[in-house]
Amino acid sequence: MLDRNGVVPLYYQIQRHLLEQIRAGVFKPGESLPSEQEIAEKLGVSRMTGRHALKSLRDLGVTYSIQGKGTFVSAIKLEKDFRQVLSFTEEMQARGMRPRSKVISFAVIPADQEATSALQLSPREKVISLRRIRFANSLPVGIEWSRIPLSFCPDLVEAFDPSGSLYAVLEERYGIRLAIAEEVIVAGLARKEEARLLKTAAKSPVFLFTRVSYTDNGPVEFVKSVYRADRYKIVNRLTRVDRELLGVTR
Ligand code: GLP
Repeated sequence: MLDRNGVVPLYYQIQRHLLEQIRAGVFKPGESLPSEQEIAEKLGVSRMTGRHALKSLRDLGVTYSIQGKGTFVSAIKLEKDFRQVLSFTEEMQARGMRPRSKVISFAVIPADQEATSALQLSPREKVISLRRIRFANSLPVGIEWSRIPLSFCPDLVEAFDPSGSLYAVLEERYGIRLAIAEEVIVAGLARKEEARLLKTAAKSPVFLFTRVSYTDNGPVEFVKSVYRADRYKIVNRLTRVDRELLGVTR
């Protein structure tokens, strides 16, 4: 199975092989993968190579590990994974972590100019504003500030326990199904207050996300988030389509 004389690193060949098996359903979500020792013995490679292959799968978000127990296949299917508009709750579950939230504020407020324009609101329209600290297991990872037009979910403040999943309640209670999201990510430094909430030092590196999420009918959520750059990783899966489809000419 392995090409030992080629230029493709062994760990990468093993990673591809395991990926194919996960795709084919040989290893299903929640099931464990062979350990680094088993990989090493079976394929005649070093344990280090086995470890490297397992780590590279984890880095892709395809698997997660539990200390002392092994490596397991993530619940969200590989093919859909990074092209989906995931909620924080789903993203953490896919990475094998427990999502938790601490609410900073949850209220109806007048939309500011930025939210009015992103959400295509009429002047003076109100939004529901939700600010939360998001935790992976018990570690604070990010602060999210979501704004949703009040007209879409007039009783959200009364009906929703904001320590739960916002996307789940939008879908289940209001039938709001997000279809796409546009996200801009820039690098930044944590401000004093953000650093305090994220339990890190002021001016530590962070990712600043601005997201607008849409249903098929238009924008529903405007989000500004600050994520700790030492605890959060952005994984993109890219495909290269036929250049002619894009109208790219030389
Ligand atoms: C992600 C998105 C946010 C969104 C949140 C909802 O973190 N970046 O824009 O508000 O998910 O997550 P949940 O449904 O867990 O509340």
